[in-house]
Amino acid sequence: MTSVYVLNGPNLNLLGTRRPEVYGNTTLADVEDLCRQEAGNLGLELEFLQSNHEGQLIDWVHEAGARVATGECLGAVFNPGAYTHTSIALHDAIEGAALPVVEVHISNVHAREEFRHRSYVSPVARGVVVGFGVYGYVLALQGLHHALTVS
Ligand code: DQA
Repeated sequence: MTSVYVLNGPNLNLLGTRRPEVYGNTTLADVEDLCRQEAGNLGLELEFLQSNHEGQLIDWVHEAGARVATGECLGAVFNPGAYTHTSIALHDAIEGAALPVVEVHISNVHAREEFRHRSYVSPVARGVVVGFGVYGYVLALQGLHHALTVS
């Protein structure tokens, strides 16, 4: 079965207790359940991962890219958290691994502080979903699947 990665960056393990007025009350375990259900609907096997460490995220991007190259994986839905706004290394990893990525943000980053308006990931993303809360993960999975399997 083809897999899809859902990667989560720093502080997303705190979902449910961290700034609920911005990110809601849903936990990361709830998001995993949502993604598992949608991946199942789409006939995909889910790899759901979270790390607070940039290097770990880069390693997973490389791993997913290698699996895309062998046809085992479709691509990744990626919420890079604050690394979105700082990490040229993540930009280079996605580009270098040729990993199809849909970038997702729970909050509407463009309606927040100016430092959140810049994304180093968007230029190498296949698509971007922002501001739909955790339902954005479902939209991102559907978008990735549609973009890569429907001609
Ligand atoms: C976020 C937005 C980022 O600016 C922030 O640093 C996060 C979460 C979101 O999902 O809305 O950690 O990626």
